[in-house]
Amino acid sequence: MGSNTLTITDNRTGKKYEVPIKEGTIKATDLRQIKTGEDDFGVMTYDPAFMNTAACRSAITYIDGDKGILEYRGYPIEQLAEKSTYLETAYLLVYGELPTATQLSEWQYNITHHTFINENLKGVLDAFRYNAHPMGILIAMISAMGTFYPEAKNIFDAEIRQRQIYRLVAKMITIAGFSYRHMMGMPKVYPDNDLSYPGNFLNMMFKTTELKYQPNRALERALEVLFILHADHEQNCSTSAMRVIGSSQVDPYSAVAGAAAALYGPLHGGANEQVIRMLTEIGSKQNIPAFIKKVEAGEGVKLMGFGHRVYKNYDPRAKIIKRVAYEVFEVNGTNPLLDIALELERIALEDDYFIKRKLYPNVDFYSGLIYQAMKFPMDMFPVLFAIPRVSGWLAQWQEMLEDPDQKISRPRQIYVGAKRRDFVPIERRK
Ligand code: ACO
Repeated sequence: MGSNTLTITDNRTGKKYEVPIKEGTIKATDLRQIKTGEDDFGVMTYDPAFMNTAACRSAITYIDGDKGILEYRGYPIEQLAEKSTYLETAYLLVYGELPTATQLSEWQYNITHHTFINENLKGVLDAFRYNAHPMGILIAMISAMGTFYPEAKNIFDAEIRQRQIYRLVAKMITIAGFSYRHMMGMPKVYPDNDLSYPGNFLNMMFKTTELKYQPNRALERALEVLFILHADHEQNCSTSAMRVIGSSQVDPYSAVAGAAAALYGPLHGGANEQVIRMLTEIGSKQNIPAFIKKVEAGEGVKLMGFGHRVYKNYDPRAKIIKRVAYEVFEVNGTNPLLDIALELERIALEDDYFIKRKLYPNVDFYSGLIYQAMKFPMDMFPVLFAIPRVSGWLAQWQEMLEDPDQKISRPRQIYVGAKRRDFVPIERRK
């Protein structure tokens, strides 16, 4: 074998093995040949939370966590946030290339003309209590929506798959808008085909008595940028859920519902809501040092919106979001929690605890402040994350289906339970 190999000596047997290294990786299954005898299953890797395991080869999103780089299909996130629209970025993620003018207008047309949801779905929505969390509603509605499109189970038919991609990207804003109106007890607003994707979403959220809703241009653009920033982030928790569920060859609605459920958690898409709660609890700048002390004492208190599994540097999305925040504050007035956030960031970035652990602001540190300034209630924050992430989930799902290396996901375990024993009748149990 060449030099791109790893030589392993098994000290239990004295045997030597050589396994190939390709793309900086060894195949976990190559370790199975390392055995102590015929009955031995072979060596496995133990990697809870997938700290060092590549579960796929992907050409969609590139992250260099140490340098703070994020690219979609090779394009830096900063350029996309400045020059692209969400729908154009979604096209890039799903198809791999920026669209031509004709491709973009077809894509926009198809998304725009799939935004209506079946009226029966409104019956599902009405079954929820007025105070149901909109993320719970979203997850249920996505799953219910799948039942309206039974052909979606033909996941290897490219044309059918394509139609579900239009539907899922398009209907997210309608379901999200309807969920909000349900929560507020307000009549639902139907999609308006004259508006952009984020503009249409604002219409379905906030339209009241005006005959035609005109979104504020600055707020519409801010939301566009937020959607671009949240569209994909390679193999994060919800995307991995999408791939794992999708690997069973279920329809994409069921897989997206599962991915959205993963996103709901406070360590993932729920973090920006926690940031607002944390800032509100801190209450004023002079309480920050005491709060930081609590975090450092490891009393289960975390500085929400800080830290990331991959970024060990400033999250590039957080930088862009900070700029967008000021643009929103210019229109709607500043968020009183901003001063606390800025001071908290300043203190944390100079603090040994955070420096040593390479903890920097992540995308969620400032996004909640913007959403709040845009008049979105906190419960809608994870929904705002899920809307654009659908394009990333679908791109990753499609890539998985077309990847000959992939099979149904099925991790191994190290069994640590009881050894084989005989059943004990209930009267003899202690
Ligand atoms: N506040 C205080 N300490 C922290 C924080 C934080 N926000 N994040 C990590 N740490 C500490 C950990 O306690 C640990 O310390 P130790 O070495 O003394 O035990 C060390 O830093 C390493 O952190 P881990 O939790 O092991 O890192 P992991 O990669 O597992 O977690 C995560 C990443 C979940 C994002 C974590 O940083 C966190 O909980 N942050 C707050 C929640 C948050 O903002 N989530 C949003 C992430 S971005 C997104 O999903 C879009």
